[in-house]
Amino acid sequence: MWVLLEPGDAALVPAPSYPIHIFGPLFAGENVREIPLATGDEFIENMIEAWRFSHPKPRVIVLSFPHNPTTTCVDLEFMQRVVDFAREHDVLLVHDNAYADLGFDGYVPPSILQAEGAKEVVVELYSMTKSFSMAGWRVAFMVGNAEVVAALAKLKSYLDYGTFQPIQIAATVTFNEATDFPREVNEIYQHRRDSLCHGLSRIGWEMEPPRGTMFAWSAIPEPYREMGSVEFCSHLVREANVALSPGVGSGPGGEGHVRFALIENEQRINQAVRNLSKALPALA
Ligand SMILES: Cc1ncc(COP(=O)(O)O)c(C=O)c1O
Repeated sequence: MWVLLEPGDAALVPAPSYPIHIFGPLFAGENVREIPLATGDEFIENMIEAWRFSHPKPRVIVLSFPHNPTTTCVDLEFMQRVVDFAREHDVLLVHDNAYADLGFDGYVPPSILQAEGAKEVVVELYSMTKSFSMAGWRVAFMVGNAEVVAALAKLKSYLDYGTFQPIQIAATVTFNEATDFPREVNEIYQHRRDSLCHGLSRIGWEMEPPRGTMFAWSAIPEPYREMGSVEFCSHLVREANVALSPGVGSGPGGEGHVRFALIENEQRINQAVRNLSKALPALA
């Protein structure tokens, strides 16, 4: 954000959001306006409305689909419409494609750079964290608008050093020799998703199974909704030894929801569901 905007500029960010998408622009001194997250047409309408009623006019829109925390997925037509809007209104789109390789049941998340004309108005980030299970290695890249990419490279040359060389070499070898690995990772997450969603359905907790990401996002089941997400999650840590993320941690629009992370194996997920069943006796 430091290379894109100046203090006082505005950025549009979907809400709820991965917290850094909100705090990145704030750290750069910008005003952040929300786009209430929705799917398809409704999101586009929300985006246009947020843009129209913002002053100063937002110069950047942050996007990230498949989406953390809501698991919202989009198609290429959606990306094209957002790109067309950006071209028409002189806005730069920053697409965080952290879940580029995590799509289920045949769904393949599109890159926003597949949209016509995207290269002029888009930068897209890809990280090895999820696709190659390399969390913490901090290897990622950004592609798209050449001027923005060059500005980031310059800023980083002032701010930090290159990644530790053995990690660079490991990442290079991985890209060259393990191109199929994300498919294996994807399958593991899909099986975990199935275990979680089937298990929860058996105990009376229904949710829309996610089509992408490594999360499941759900409204708090009705009998417990009034507790709010923080109290509900605290209850589950105490009574079920299961940690969920309270939706409110992802900013406006997240309250009333919780996020499951599919980071445990299927056996542990089944155990977690059994514990949840005992801790939530009011479920059907
Ligand atoms: C949307 C999104 N972007 C980026 C990241 C983090 O990626 P990295 O490990 O490359 O910093 C995450 C991880 O949770 C994420 O959900």
